[in-house]
Amino acid sequence: MSSNKILVTGGCGYIGSHTTLLLFEAGFDVVVVDNLANSSKESLRRVEQLSGKTVELYQLDVRDNDALTAVFAKHEFKAVIHFAGLKAVGESTEIPLDYYDQNISGTINLLKVMQQFNCYQIVFSSSATVYGDPASVPITEDFPTSATNPYGRTKLFVEEILRDLSRADDQWHVIMLRYFNPIGAHQSGLIGEQPQGIPNNLMPFISQVAAGKRDKLSIFGGDYSTPDGTGIRDYIHVMDLSDAHVKAIHKIDGLVGTTTLNIGTGNGYSVLEMVHTFEEVTGVFVAHEIVERRAGDIAECWAEPKLASSVLGWKAKLNLNDMMTDTWRWQKDNPDGF
Ligand SMILES: NC(=O)c1ccc[n+]([C@@H]2O[C@H](COP(=O)([O-])OP(=O)(O)OC[C@H]3O[C@@H](n4cnc5c(N)ncnc54)[C@H](O)[C@@H]3O)[C@@H](O)[C@H]2O)c1
Repeated sequence: MSSNKILVTGGCGYIGSHTTLLLFEAGFDVVVVDNLANSSKESLRRVEQLSGKTVELYQLDVRDNDALTAVFAKHEFKAVIHFAGLKAVGESTEIPLDYYDQNISGTINLLKVMQQFNCYQIVFSSSATVYGDPASVPITEDFPTSATNPYGRTKLFVEEILRDLSRADDQWHVIMLRYFNPIGAHQSGLIGEQPQGIPNNLMPFISQVAAGKRDKLSIFGGDYSTPDGTGIRDYIHVMDLSDAHVKAIHKIDGLVGTTTLNIGTGNGYSVLEMVHTFEEVTGVFVAHEIVERRAGDIAECWAEPKLASSVLGWKAKLNLNDMMTDTWRWQKDNPDGF
């Protein structure tokens, strides 16, 4: 009988912890590897609390060949979901070598070990950042790709590596999910996003201002060519995003070679719409001001998610109100994170 066990790299992190929970709920066994560079074990303890299942966690770096080999020697995996890596765009311009090493060398090491153990199925966390500054919206998967920073380039390079690998050996089944902007938290308020230091993304920033942890939100740019002048993004609930991974695992046996899919809702919301919706849904005021544009930011980015719908049978189900309600519950219940 083939294995029902999934290796989740970076499973203690934001998207990894929610996906681990949904994999359990779908009946899979899960093993997590994570070096805890940007997370804590507490997230998995809470996944255990929610699922009633036990997670086997190996605290290791995906670049560590010996440690990863030992995990594969102990378990037979149906597939790997590869979240582990660094993700802060700004930081990637300051320490590019760390980004190339962790995101690219880490993935190459993982792929080598997978190959050694005849595990040829992988779901990779790519990003809408690979579209650079798109010529139009909505964005389809065949749009040209480019990158404006080292983080984005790591995603582009890993996509190319995975394509080369599956061209060279048709045993590979590779699904690359290009996430748009994940926000929100599990409805229990027990797991969510825990940014370290000053949040890089809009939603944790909004909720920290609302909670009184920060004075005000700086909105980068009010003069974009959008209806209210602020940038427009496709925000997707982390539970919907996690569900896309479970659907990908269900379909992966039949998807030979590489499959590249946008994971977004197909709706774009401006920064000001996000602030006002948060205020309406929670009743809490969010102090904000409009400041200069941030280098590298684009005006509009939202997905055409039809391909994911036809290939995976997946569709985002949760709306912006759900995203706001769940973010705020997580923030209120866990003012200092895990
Ligand atoms: N959150 C987003 O907005 C977003 C958008 C697009 C793509 N992604 C990608 O999705 C993946 C998961 O993102 P997330 O938001 O859950 O981030 P996260 O930082 O919460 O999770 C990543 C996890 O990987 C672990 N990790 C990092 N480097 C590692 C290494 N070398 N070895 C082992 N573990 C390591 C971290 O400790 C963390 O638990 C990342 O690859 C990220 O680039 C995220």
